[in-house]
Amino acid sequence: MSGGPGPRRGPALQQIGLIQDAAVLCGGGRIIAAGTQAEVLRHPWLKKNQRKLREIDCGGKVVIPGWIDSHTHPVFMEPRLVDFSKRIAGAGYEEIAASGGGIRSSVAGVRQATQSQLTQKAGVALDAMLRQGTTTVEAKSGYGLTTEDEIKSLAALSEAASRWPGTIVPTLLAAHVVPAEFAGKSDQYVEKVCAEIVPLAASRKLAAFVDVFCERGAFTLEQSEKIFAAARGHGLGVRAHVGQFTASQLAPLLHHRPASLDHMDCIHPEDLALLAQGDTVVTLLPGASYFLGHREFPDARRLIDAGVPVALATDFNPGTSPTPSIAFVVSLACTHMKMTPEEAIAASTINAACALQLQERKGSMEAGKDADLAVFDVKDYREIAYWFAWDRCVGVIAGGEVLMRDMR
Ligand code: NIG
Ligand code: FE
Repeated sequence: MSGGPGPRRGPALQQIGLIQDAAVLCGGGRIIAAGTQAEVLRHPWLKKNQRKLREIDCGGKVVIPGWIDSHTHPVFMEPRLVDFSKRIAGAGYEEIAASGGGIRSSVAGVRQATQSQLTQKAGVALDAMLRQGTTTVEAKSGYGLTTEDEIKSLAALSEAASRWPGTIVPTLLAAHVVPAEFAGKSDQYVEKVCAEIVPLAASRKLAAFVDVFCERGAFTLEQSEKIFAAARGHGLGVRAHVGQFTASQLAPLLHHRPASLDHMDCIHPEDLALLAQGDTVVTLLPGASYFLGHREFPDARRLIDAGVPVALATDFNPGTSPTPSIAFVVSLACTHMKMTPEEAIAASTINAACALQLQERKGSMEAGKDADLAVFDVKDYREIAYWFAWDRCVGVIAGGEVLMRDMR
């Protein structure tokens, strides 16, 4: 897959650049050449490096760029089973959150945990992602909600990243929800996030992005803008959870040039043209709609047809989307959002790379990009979406390192 530097939109999202009888030549952790076998076998690098070559036969299989999961929350201790049961009994997400469940109920576990316990838990989730072909993961803090516990969460991610063969993009989500001790004083908490937590995360180089949950019951648009401004002021990128339950005005957020706006189940129609004009990616998270039992899924067709660049991600988290599987999300996007398999694959690779501003390095199999690949035991790429909840990934290569599983 190749194309311009920006995210794919409209009909271009459909162009995955399928090559039959293909080969990928990798060296020094990068892709040296990708194309038909005949093209790749003629590459001059091969002559010089013949003896170093290790051949992996992927005959009869499908090779794609490693999945990029551009939205996850892996730093937490326990599954949230009380909320799960309450929802089965008929309660809604916001109702559960208002009665002390939701995000706040994962906070005590993170505050009590040591950094190494959090590293271990995050590592288990990251390994599950890697085994299913995900080689780049954006990972958020957001269940500590004090300076110490947010920094501890980011440090745990940094430790997990140093042991994980793929690439982690860390995000500070101190503004996930107003912590109980700041109840009724949300502006004071926002002030603390801006004046204390963001600067510390930036100076310790623990975060690439700052995220905020801009939603009824979490943070207002004005508060979200303050957090964006603080992040920008400290040289960090910005992204937001927005429009999950209620539509928000987007212009004030877009003014800060976020890499991505995520969820976006609810969007004012007049904001579509605004989104179509810019390079901010809209990251859709159907795993959350599925797990919360929503009837409605994000309206991907409306966005794609309006020329808005979309990505897909798992939203891996204990409350709304406990799945590490991009393939499942791709399948949901096809069955419940009427995205084509081609669109869903591009949305989880090249556009997800754009959502992390990593498109120069990741998201497609092109010379010069990182050698991050996933091999599926299927004859046709559409089967990746078709065999839902059946992990067909049999081989993973991250940064040129071969992490084989079951290549016969
Ligand atoms: O992306 N919406 C806010 N944050 C998460 C939920 C996290 C949680 O419930 O723990 C989400 O769905
Ligand atoms: Fe999320």
